[in-house]
Parts: sequence; structure tokens; C-alpha cells
Amino acid sequence: SFPFYLDCDTGIDDALALAYLLASPQADVRGIGAVSGNVSAAVGARNSLDLLELAGHAHIPVALGAHDPLAGSFGGGAPWVHGANGIGEVSLAASSVSLAPETAAEMLVRLAHEHPGTLRVLAIGPLTNIAEALGLEPSLPELVAEITIMGGAALAPGNLTPVAEANIANDPEAAAVVLSAGWNVTLVPLDVTMTNVLEENHRQELLASSGAVPRALGEMLGYYFRFYEGIFGRACSAMHDPLAAALAVGAVTAAVAPVVHVDVDTTSGPGRGQTVCDLRGLYMDYPEQPGARCRVVLSLEDDFAPHLVERLLNYFEIP
Ligand code: BDR
Ligand code: CA
Repeated sequence: SFPFYLDCDTGIDDALALAYLLASPQADVRGIGAVSGNVSAAVGARNSLDLLELAGHAHIPVALGAHDPLAGSFGGGAPWVHGANGIGEVSLAASSVSLAPETAAEMLVRLAHEHPGTLRVLAIGPLTNIAEALGLEPSLPELVAEITIMGGAALAPGNLTPVAEANIANDPEAAAVVLSAGWNVTLVPLDVTMTNVLEENHRQELLASSGAVPRALGEMLGYYFRFYEGIFGRACSAMHDPLAAALAVGAVTAAVAPVVHVDVDTTSGPGRGQTVCDLRGLYMDYPEQPGARCRVVLSLEDDFAPHLVERLLNYFEIP
């Protein structure tokens, strides 16, 4: 298994991704950083600690990261999507574990030095902490094996603005730094996360589990489903962050995933936060892009939802 650093803004799909990583034999989670996004970094960090406690992994350290994006200030989160507490108004028993004595960016740099060439990074919130870590350690791209990012919208519409996805839109400056840092990036945009959904029967399977973690996730998903009902017209939800986790551990395979240049719009116009992916090769004879390091996942080989549910149930079921 590979050592992992997870950076998240622990809302509902982040909670699913965290549980999925814990349940994945390919991943050894060495640290979790919190960034403001769905909720403030402080609330997200508490959610991660409480989830780790419930999952029996309270030994994994959680570090507080950036409250504000590189430019401007935290916009208050997305309570209409994730609830005011970030986890669909589900109350978990409060962990008594304290936050790590380092920032999230410091934790990432430390782990990269402890696991040179093997550390995997999974970033499923705004990219502020990752950009700060690059500032602390410019050779981070050589130390980290690969980074998987849930974010952006390649050909699909945005979700926070007409063209911008929330993780990128909440800190475009950080995303621009991270996507141009010269490391191997796998970008998991809305194109693939909005088209692989979890249905009510999957949620019922989680709720019927003997394990406390799948049951809590099933309850959280009730809140998430109500938001997504307004988009899809039925009780279901997108699976942004757990899908990025599954691609990061290699448990699901991308079908279409060109390696291209990706620019982030950091202007103040209507394109702010857009991920401009050079996908011209999809429909015309277009030369290879020298120096391109960003693999943009546009579709999957596998059906993701059954795999997600099965992995969570198998791992967290009480024998
Ligand atoms: C992304 O934004 C957050 O709301 C979700 O947790 C996910 O990481 C989807 O746009
Ligand atoms: Ca997230």
C-alpha cells in the first residue's frame, strides 16, 4: 500500500472519501489536512477527527490548514449542500483527540520528506494548503509520487458559477499554482463526478449496515440527496470526492483521460475559476502537448457506486 496525505474540506462527500480511503488496502493514510471550503477549516478538521474516532482510526493526525484562500477571504461555505455542520446535520460523538502541532501545509511537506517518491496526495477541497506547501518546499513535485485532485469542469458546466467548479472557484490563485507546479496531476472534474451517481438503493444498503460508519454516511447522504434532487429530479447524489479517492488508489479505471495542459482563469471576469483544458485533440488531429502533465478524467470503465458501497460495507461491517 502507498502512504497518503489527504487534504479536505470535510463535507458529506469528503466524509465518504475519507471512509473509502480507510477501507482501501491500497492506501495507508498518514495525515489529513483541513482547508476551508464546504465549511471552515476548523469545522472541517473537527469533522475529520470525529469520523476517524468513529472509524477506529483516531491515531491518524489531523492538521488545521488555511482558513482563507490565497486572495480574499472565506465565503462561508455551502450549508445548503452539506448542512451547517458540513455533515448533513448528523451529530457524531466528539473526538477527544487534539489537532496536530503543525499546519496542514507543514504536515504535507513533512510526509513528503518521510516518504520521498512514494507519497500520494489526494486533494478534495480548495487547493490553498497544497499551494502553501509548494511555497514552503519548492521541490515538493519531485518528492510526491502523484497528486489527484477533485476539481474543475473540463467540458461540463460549472457548479458554483456557469463555468467554475467549487474547489477551484473557492481559490483560483491556489489552483493555478498547483496545476502549474510540474508534477503528475490527475484531475477529476465535474464531467465524470456528475455522471456517476449514488442512488437511493445504495444509500439504503449503507443504512442497513451493522457498521456505525456506513450508517452515519447513509444518514449524511439523506441531506445530500435532498440537495441533488433539485438537480437530478430524483433522490440520488453526485460522488465527487470518493470517486477521486478511488481513482487515486487505482481501484477504478478511467476510460477517457487525455494528458493535456490545464490553465486556471484567475481574472476577475465571468471566467474566474474556470479550468481551461486543452482538449482540442478530442475532435481534431492535434499534436501531442509537450510538457503536459495533467491527466483529465472524462469517463470511467467501471460502474463506481456499487464498488463504493461494497468496499465500505465489507470494511466497516461488524463481523
Ligand atoms: C466539490 O466541492 C465540494 O463541495 C465537494 O466536497 C467537492 O469536493 C464539488 O464541486
Ligand atoms: Ca470536498
